[in-house]
This record gives sequence, C-alpha cells and structure tokens, in this order.
Amino acid sequence: MPHQNYVIDEMISAKAIAARIEDLAREIRKEFKTTDKLVVVGLLRGSFVFIADLVRELDLPVEVDFLEASSYGDGMESSREVRILKDLRGQIEGRDVLVVEDIVDTGHTLAHVTKYLMSRKPARLKTIALLDKPARREVDLKASWTGFEIPDEFVVGYGIDFAQRNRNLPFIGKVRFEEPDKS
Ligand code: PRP
Repeated sequence: MPHQNYVIDEMISAKAIAARIEDLAREIRKEFKTTDKLVVVGLLRGSFVFIADLVRELDLPVEVDFLEASSYGDGMESSREVRILKDLRGQIEGRDVLVVEDIVDTGHTLAHVTKYLMSRKPARLKTIALLDKPARREVDLKASWTGFEIPDEFVVGYGIDFAQRNRNLPFIGKVRFEEPDKS
C-alpha cells in the first residue's frame, strides 16, 4: 500500500521491452497481413503505454479503440468480478481484432473481455499480453502472444500501477517492501 515504504528494482529494461515488441510486431504483421484494417483494442488503463509502442511498430492499417474493464480495486487483490466500465467506440462485427493487455494475472479480465467481444461476432479475435504471470492463473487461458513470462512478483511501470502510482516508469519494475523504520 502507498503508506508502506517500497522501492522498485528494475526487472525488464526499456531496451528489452522495445526489442521484444519488435519481435511481436513482426509476428502480428504476418498474422494480419491481409487484413483490411485491424482493430487494435487497448484495455485501459494498464495497456496505454504498450499499445502506443506496439501500434507504431506494426506498420499495418489499424484502427485504435479502447475498452475499460476492472478487476482490481486500489489494492493488490484481484477480485473475480470483472466489470466493463467503458465500451468500444467502434463496431467490430466481421472485423479482425487484436486485444492488447498489459498483464495476465488470474486471467479473469482477459477471459471476460474475450467472451464479451466474441459476442459481437468479430471475424477473428487475437490477444496479446506484455506480461504473463502463469503462477497466479485461475482461468485456463493464454494470450495468443506474450511478451514476457514473469514470476509471481508485484510489478509496476510501463503502464502498470501500484495504487495508481508508477505507471510512467519506462521499464517494468519489481516492488520490494521495506521494513518500517522502528528507530
Ligand atoms: C489489471 C491489469 C489487467 C488485469 C489483470 O487491471 O491491467 O487488466 O488487472 O488481472 P487478472 O488477469 O487477474 O484479471 P486493473 O483492473 O488493475 O486496471 P488498470 O489496467 O486500470 O490498472
């Protein structure tokens, strides 16, 4: 919690993220090379940095849209209930869609969003997550593409927050809590 002292250790550098995004973009370009205009859907708020870097590497005609779903409160515990807080602006029926997620943790958010969007009958729906924490999974699901598999650590930066802080770090960091100073 923010009242607790914590430090952030770098886990994945900005350079490593950029290099991985180049590889992912190459694979995505291959998959959607015949698509007329790909709808890239960012899940707010955590994916805003990732989607910005990803679409600029794609070199494909894209439409960018956003959806906001929430599974966490301001704390660290993931609740099972996922709510859609902000819907897409555009139509996706018959279109190719790429859902962009910052992190798959329990999997509830991506599972719920995928089901929700599939009900609108897209031609194809693929998913990409920058980070994947398989140890925390409660739903049997894997994104079509994953940037990095990470251990069960609390991570921040590159769009991901800790109680609405640290989203603007250019790298992925690991939160390390410090013992309260008893002196
Ligand atoms: C976080 C994160 C993912 C989701 C992953 O979003 O951005 O969308 O949780 O968790 P899950 O796999 O356990 O469902 P959050 O609801 O914290 O909102 P934010 O993106 O606005 O930070």
